[in-house]
Amino acid sequence: MSIVNGQDVEAHYSSGSTSGNEIFNKIKTYLNENNITTVRLTDLAPVDEFHIGGIPGTISLMDKLDIKSTDTILDVGAGLGGPARFVADKYGCKVIGVDLTKKFVDAGNEITSLFPQLKDKVHLVVGSGLDLEKALPSDSTGLFDKAYLLHVGMNITDKTKLINEISKKLKPNGKLAIYDVMKMSSDELEFPLPWASDKSHDACASVDVYKKAFENSGFNVTVENSRLEFGLGVFEKRKMHSGKTPFGLNVHQENFATKGANMVKNMKAGRMAPYELIGVKNNITSSNNL
Ligand SMILES: C[S@@+](CC[C@H](N)C(=O)[O-])C[C@H]1O[C@@H](n2cnc3c(N)ncnc32)[C@H](O)[C@@H]1O
Repeated sequence: MSIVNGQDVEAHYSSGSTSGNEIFNKIKTYLNENNITTVRLTDLAPVDEFHIGGIPGTISLMDKLDIKSTDTILDVGAGLGGPARFVADKYGCKVIGVDLTKKFVDAGNEITSLFPQLKDKVHLVVGSGLDLEKALPSDSTGLFDKAYLLHVGMNITDKTKLINEISKKLKPNGKLAIYDVMKMSSDELEFPLPWASDKSHDACASVDVYKKAFENSGFNVTVENSRLEFGLGVFEKRKMHSGKTPFGLNVHQENFATKGANMVKNMKAGRMAPYELIGVKNNITSSNNL
């Protein structure tokens, strides 16, 4: 498998917009054109929840994470921050998001400013999940109660390093929840996909690779759950409504219709599936890879 580098990842996600400002302006135009004066998180979900199933996909994972209002949560690969805002709003906790793609972070912080109640609860910063101390120095953030990543691991080749980095930022017995698209067979995937234009930028891996990375990083996996049926249902519903909702991921991504169609082909052929895993830090690390 090729090593996916951060600059390629940022270039991939950035190619559909010139700046964070452009993304934010498109969102404001949509709100104005639709006379939405009191914006709700659900109004923006088609654009800022960038994973299979949007808000229902987020809820399914978060409801298994036992989130408390006193928690501070780390969102790795937070994108435009839709999940971070949703989680802070639903559970009353704080969420700090880290993302490589500056345009997303810039637009995401602007979007949060539309929700004054979230001002002190959600913050996004530019940085890599593979170097979290640089993005979030411990003396300013302390340790997190929980962490999650939604559709991010498909861009990160070294899953053990990723989970080790997150582990360093978690309190003892902290939890890490992952909702990623995972490989279900050794067959080649069809590209382009939402996270990679071709195979050289793809780091989609099997459930076993993730579970091994959890184990290497001192976590016990306590939840594992295929979301294949859910995922196929989401695309089926979208097909029924196609043409009626121009406000979607195409606001910031190129060629999304083809990427979505390839998602369905790969899922139907049994090559990949959206999948949930939750690990609890057991504080015993067996990896040499630290
Ligand atoms: C498919 S989007 C998902 C965004 C968000 N989690 C959501 O569900 O709305 C993947 C995101 O992961 C980010 N990403 C990929 N590799 C990363 C890394 N090494 N560190 C931080 N962010 C990364 C990308 O910039 C992109 O915003």
